[in-house]
Amino acid sequence: MQGFGVDIGGSGIKGGLVDLEEGRLVGERVRIDTPQPARPEPVFDVVTEIVRSFDWTGRVGVTFPGVMKKGVAHTAANVDPSWIGTDVDAGLSGLIPGTVETLNDADAAGIAEMRFGAGRDRDGVVLMLTFGTGIGSALFVDGRLVPNTEFGHIQVDGEDGEHRAAASAREREDLSYPAWAKRVDRYLDVLEAGLWPDLIIVGGGVSRKAHKWVPLLSTRTPVVPALLQNTAGIVGAALAAAERPEAGHDPEPVGRT
Ligand code: BGC
Repeated sequence: MQGFGVDIGGSGIKGGLVDLEEGRLVGERVRIDTPQPARPEPVFDVVTEIVRSFDWTGRVGVTFPGVMKKGVAHTAANVDPSWIGTDVDAGLSGLIPGTVETLNDADAAGIAEMRFGAGRDRDGVVLMLTFGTGIGSALFVDGRLVPNTEFGHIQVDGEDGEHRAAASAREREDLSYPAWAKRVDRYLDVLEAGLWPDLIIVGGGVSRKAHKWVPLLSTRTPVVPALLQNTAGIVGAALAAAERPEAGHDPEPVGRT
């Protein structure tokens, strides 16, 4: 069975057909630069263009880098503030043929990792963290997502955690991997004071270089790199849309096969 996912990011909007049983893209993904300023209408137009280029008419899963509740964006830490209060589901549903399911970007990546990647068959409390422009989080309890956790914004030494420990901080401040790993370690230290996960999965582009920083961490929780890399958001969004429960039915835990 196939699905369709679109990943809205600060610099690019990516979409593609997804094989829902295998958890991988079918053919190439399409990427279009995020229009600047990244306000809702121009972004909706790009999402529409991507979906239409595949002649896809089924359900579409769409990720957004902020809190998403019932299709409405509630925060926009790293994107244009005009998103706050925007009904993304309704806006996109008016433009593309299929129904739209929007969800937080890290939640989507986590859903994919739990089903097909580093969290596969893992019970207990699993935390996925994505290190990019910000820090995204997705928390799973026995395979079931607790949506919209925002652990990138915990206070660490008086600052927003993601401000010092996101991958963007490493680039902005030209930090070596060991120097940045210290920041991540401190961030995780504070996080672990309030949460006792059984596993932490680290994703985002920087997880490709996991060997340079993950071994330097001193967390009590085992930390493993994500396996799906840059397709996780698209795959997770497509899964979430395809498996959206009908009214009156309980959703299945996503981490189980
Ligand atoms: C946002 C999260 C998002 C994360 C990664 C954070 O700044 O608040 O909602 O998941 O960035 O994009």
